[in-house]
Amino acid sequence: MSIMKNFLNVILILCVCLNWCFTEGAEEKESGKVDSYTFQVSSLFPSSSSSCTPSSKASNKKSSLRVVHMHGACSHLSSNKDARLDHDEILRRDQARVKSIHSKLLKNNADGVSKAKSTELPAKDGSTLDSANYIVTVGIGTPEHDISLVFDTGSDLTWTQCQPCLGSCYSQQEPIFNPSLSSSYHNVSCSSPMCGNHPSCNSVTSCRYRIRYGDGSATIGVLAKEKFTLTNSDVLEDVYFGCGENNTGLFNGAAGILGLGRGKLSIPSQTTTTYNNIFSYCLPSSASNTGHLTFGSAGISESVKYTPISSFPSSSLYGIDIVGIRVGDKELEITPTSFSTDGAIIDSGTVITRLPTKVYAEMSSVFKEKMSSYKTTSGRSILDTCYDFTGLATVTIPTIAFTFSGGTVVKLDGIGILYQITQSQVCLAFAGDDDILAIFGNVQQTTLEIVYDVAGGRVGFAPNGCS
Ligand SMILES: *[C@@H]1O[C@H](CO)[C@@H](O)[C@H](O)[C@H]1NC(C)=O
Ligand SMILES: *[C@@H]1O[C@H](CO)[C@@H](O)[C@H](O)[C@H]1NC(C)=O
Repeated sequence: MSIMKNFLNVILILCVCLNWCFTEGAEEKESGKVDSYTFQVSSLFPSSSSSCTPSSKASNKKSSLRVVHMHGACSHLSSNKDARLDHDEILRRDQARVKSIHSKLLKNNADGVSKAKSTELPAKDGSTLDSANYIVTVGIGTPEHDISLVFDTGSDLTWTQCQPCLGSCYSQQEPIFNPSLSSSYHNVSCSSPMCGNHPSCNSVTSCRYRIRYGDGSATIGVLAKEKFTLTNSDVLEDVYFGCGENNTGLFNGAAGILGLGRGKLSIPSQTTTTYNNIFSYCLPSSASNTGHLTFGSAGISESVKYTPISSFPSSSLYGIDIVGIRVGDKELEITPTSFSTDGAIIDSGTVITRLPTKVYAEMSSVFKEKMSSYKTTSGRSILDTCYDFTGLATVTIPTIAFTFSGGTVVKLDGIGILYQITQSQVCLAFAGDDDILAIFGNVQQTTLEIVYDVAGGRVGFAPNGCS
């Protein structure tokens, strides 16, 4: 990790127009820096009955899928649009996901990096968890059958539940895919290089896969090939995917997972010749807005700033190096030893950003100092810096900006700083944890355009990716 702090101090943070009711404070107008956001408290809690406002960007882009929250006005999955998310459950599952990412790393370290490649497919324990709440809808098979999948940069294999559900299937909202009704479905044989070294696999049987998640959820089934229809003009033939015959867990009614990791079975890796191993997304600011997941480089904003993907002891995760964090006008003390040797990753499925305890403690303390005029309240689960905004029309919070290696400064949207449980309990959406690597989570990614240029070995960021 290089130290770019001094250099970065002179980079002007761009003044960007934020969507919604956020306005930026102008405490340092002359230097061009903006250190606070003022917003209406009510904007944190869009009414659950509000209608869906689609992102204009998504529909204008080529090879672009609509990204929506699993529950809410823009999702066709939730039959009860008012379904309230259980925050304790979200935070509990988030912690389980983070632990399972960590155990996957330990396992890879123990096995050795070179070996990890050949064991890509079978029996990977605790690779990810379903705490991600963002889904995309794709078509599978011939004739096309629509399925909504949770998209996940933390895992590779795309899978969906398949009839006849030999073991068991959890309840999903769309009809379960039936491969025997599709003319483009093919099993993959054990001799396929994509199959890996499965112990129970021999030359006459078809390849099987098994993924176990940190919370005990699991999917077991057949590795198969199918036609995937992303958009009318983006039809992918012979995509490797998991046809899940025995699936347990709470995937919130989604039909499975869309794997966007770095491994060879992920959708970006399989579609390198079409999309050049580049994809980008924007996570919407609320359940009443949409974002996008876009394959290929068409339409990527000129203002995207890149940081290298760091070498990492896992074939599927995206490593990045955090070299600086600024809270309001205060630069936190981050040195090359602040982060563990595992460094940090960016993950679409982790909700709350995790930082080393010492870094988080300083962030929390600076945040509290800037927020000293507000009433504090008790913490919730892994969140410990919380405020009671009852009775307030507007609040002003300090900005937070991350600097990644290469000098890329990413200023979080106002909505990417707080986790709102109720008006009387709104928390700083970060947590300290020394037992795991640092993770740049999806609350912090909200409304940013995030580009995964895997072929180019870099991840990029730009503001206002959804609007
Ligand atoms: C389904 O998977 C569970 C473990 O996740 C296992 O206990 C059970 O035996 C499996 N059922 C079948 C029919 O394979
Ligand atoms: C694929 O393999 C499964 C399990 O081995 C089998 O039940 C199914 O009939 C096969 N499907 C095709 C199209 O070969």
